[in-house]
Amino acid sequence: MTLFTNNHSFHHLFLFLLLITFLHLFSSTAALGVNYGMIADNLPSPTEVANFIKTQTIFDSVKIFDSNPDVLRAFANTNISVSVTVANGEIPSLTTVRAARRWVNAHIRPFHPQTKIKYIIVGNEVLLLNNLAEINNLLPAMKCLNRALHNSQIQDIKVTSAHALNIFNGLTVPSLARFRIDYAKSFFAPLLLFHRRTKSPFMINPYPYFELNAIGNKLDFALFKRNPGLFDGHSGKTYTNAFDALLDKTFSAMSAIGCGDVEIVIGETGWPSQGDGGNLVATIDNALSYNGNLVREILSGNGTPLMPNRTFETYIFGLFNENQKPGPLAEKNWGLFRPDFTPVYNAGVLRNGRPVPTPTQPQPTPSPATPVPSGKRFCVPKPGVTDAQLQSNLDYACSQGTNCSPIQPGGPCAEPPTTRSRATFAMNSFYRSKGEVDSACDFSGTAQITTVNPSYGNCHYV
Ligand SMILES: *[C@@H]1O[C@H](CO)[C@@H](O)[C@H](O)[C@H]1NC(C)=O
Ligand SMILES: *[C@@H]1O[C@H](CO)[C@@H](O)[C@H](O)[C@H]1NC(C)=O
Repeated sequence: MTLFTNNHSFHHLFLFLLLITFLHLFSSTAALGVNYGMIADNLPSPTEVANFIKTQTIFDSVKIFDSNPDVLRAFANTNISVSVTVANGEIPSLTTVRAARRWVNAHIRPFHPQTKIKYIIVGNEVLLLNNLAEINNLLPAMKCLNRALHNSQIQDIKVTSAHALNIFNGLTVPSLARFRIDYAKSFFAPLLLFHRRTKSPFMINPYPYFELNAIGNKLDFALFKRNPGLFDGHSGKTYTNAFDALLDKTFSAMSAIGCGDVEIVIGETGWPSQGDGGNLVATIDNALSYNGNLVREILSGNGTPLMPNRTFETYIFGLFNENQKPGPLAEKNWGLFRPDFTPVYNAGVLRNGRPVPTPTQPQPTPSPATPVPSGKRFCVPKPGVTDAQLQSNLDYACSQGTNCSPIQPGGPCAEPPTTRSRATFAMNSFYRSKGEVDSACDFSGTAQITTVNPSYGNCHYV
């Protein structure tokens, strides 16, 4: 320490470092990435995708839902970062440093650093699924993976986990949001301390599309359109959009347990551009409004009412429409692009000056006015719920005298023959048969109420 002759200069250096850290944390340009989901049988090769993202889009990062070696190889030397996901089911087996080391050796070391791997995302939305082995082992697995990276001298990869926003107590204004009491101390406090210690971000998946019911179907508020806004009487802040409100709920809950300084990354957000007949909100116009305004908002670096000027690295969901995704039609239509790389709509993510290729089909239909969701409420599974849980919901609902004949073979709702599709029908029928009380749409926390009608083809949800 010959450099520092007295406490005074040390003090100045400390303030200087603090300032640098602050500027670095909150003034860096917002990074925009995209989720590269691959549940489709018509997608271009990872090499073509990597080339497309690098040369035609403004994305500097992609996120995948596994650690597909073909994708990791394709993005080598592109300077596009790739974040990989550890499947939920793998979490319980990664709770020793030895096992984590094996995982890193198999999935990271062959590709790093030629491929810029940014985050290892341990599990996707584990709290939605109520699998205690996954929930309780999440932090131990994250710690072991972090230790394994450290032992392998890999310092530029951070360990995190992606969370759905079913994590708050009750419905309240953003500044009063708190983590669910059953998870605040036991789950989030130690998790956020890990993030602080390892300088890794807390990753959330805010989806105003799935919150429409919770926000009183204020579609303009969800879509960043002109609207009366939401006044938070506790903080005195006014919210003009649901996205900011979700971010500030997260920030308030983190702050309430003393961790408001941990960085927040948006792991997924987006809006589908097409849905079944009864789905009035999944339209090209709405997807364009949501994602187009989101991109502007993120790139502006304006932050939120409670986090002014903070930037949020954001991963839009998703890159492509995915034709093999189970469930209602909207599930297949989250993409910004079709598999032939034509944009579904112009969300502002193509590189400046490049003409936007003309979409081949379908053309955006001029909408007469803002579509409003039907007033009717439906009970559906939350996104990300496992097939095992869905099957148990299905079995339970059908054992309670619910009318399950439409999902029997030959019935109008038998296709697609996926557990999710059939469970959705059964869960909604159960909810209807119980007089539509909220408590009948719980299914151990795996269900949610929506005003988006899940009907499709000849399968009519009553
Ligand atoms: C690589 O990407 C980073 C941002 O992710 C950027 O700052 C840097 O300039 C890029 N390097 C090259 C050689 O393009
Ligand atoms: C945010 O940035 C603007 C413009 O640079 C500045 O005027 C304002 O004081 C900043 N607000 C905070 C809280 O830092």
